[in-house]
Amino acid sequence: MAKIIAGIGSSHVPAIGAALDNGKTEEPYWKRVFSGFEKSKEWMAKTKPDVAIVVYNDHASAFSVEMIPTFALGCAAEFPPADEGWGPRPVPVVKGHPALAAHIAQSVILDEFDLTIVNKMEVDHGLTVPMNLLFGQPKDAWPCPVIPLAVNVVMYPPPTGHRCYMLGKALRRAVESYPEDLKVVIFGTGGLSHQISGPRAGLINSKWDKSFLDNLSKDQKKLTRIPHLEYMREAGAEGIEMVMWLIMRGALDDKVDEVYRFYTVPASNTAVGHIILENARKASGTRKVAGKSKRGSAGKSRQAAARKSIHRIASKGTR
Ligand SMILES: [Fe+2]
Repeated sequence: MAKIIAGIGSSHVPAIGAALDNGKTEEPYWKRVFSGFEKSKEWMAKTKPDVAIVVYNDHASAFSVEMIPTFALGCAAEFPPADEGWGPRPVPVVKGHPALAAHIAQSVILDEFDLTIVNKMEVDHGLTVPMNLLFGQPKDAWPCPVIPLAVNVVMYPPPTGHRCYMLGKALRRAVESYPEDLKVVIFGTGGLSHQISGPRAGLINSKWDKSFLDNLSKDQKKLTRIPHLEYMREAGAEGIEMVMWLIMRGALDDKVDEVYRFYTVPASNTAVGHIILENARKASGTRKVAGKSKRGSAGKSRQAAARKSIHRIASKGTR
């Protein structure tokens, strides 16, 4: 059985990618940022996931204003880096995991989350920057396949934090119903507080950011009740990206261990936040079994009913 073992929250500031690509990581301004991810890279190298699900948002690279899916799941075999105006980033092509992605699409959609299935998509800094921060700068290939999950946070209305959290739970049910033994990690990316235009450009709210990071392990349900307006008011217009962290959080146990945190300001006028959460080790088996039977049975019965109705439609069609 596949299993989500940990969640990673990380900002995806585009200037971090530019600093990497232009050899500026040792400059004092950027060293402060990159040094905060050294332990994370060690953790990732030790964890060695088989697959990473990366929740991020597309910044008008793969999708334009002509088509804006709320949740888009990348089911392709590969995802080339997008040209964001100065050529594609010099990072390896992201290899997907089409079999697991197709399974997730089926499970999550039959679980009543209507994802958009994307079979061709380029990925921008929203996905590649957090990959660099956790996996370093591989020349030829990323160390594991990646399933991108793009979320609309660029045009109103983005999904609510609660919807994102519940999608995380559906993703977990999907992964845990995949028969192959796979260690899966899930990234929630974006944020933290920042606003890139208008009279409040440059807004950073460290107090609010830290409270958000604290509550990822202390009171995640409180985070799911934050309305869009509070993100906008407290964390800036682009702070709404933080709802994507709640997909990651929903995919984990109710109780988690915070194994690492890093926060620094500013990086290109943005607060950089990072956290690693692992499912709590103590008595996790008991809790998981109890939780799984409750959530799993509801999800399974909905899926079974949906599959039956699909079968009925198919049977009619052949008559
Ligand atoms: Fe972003």
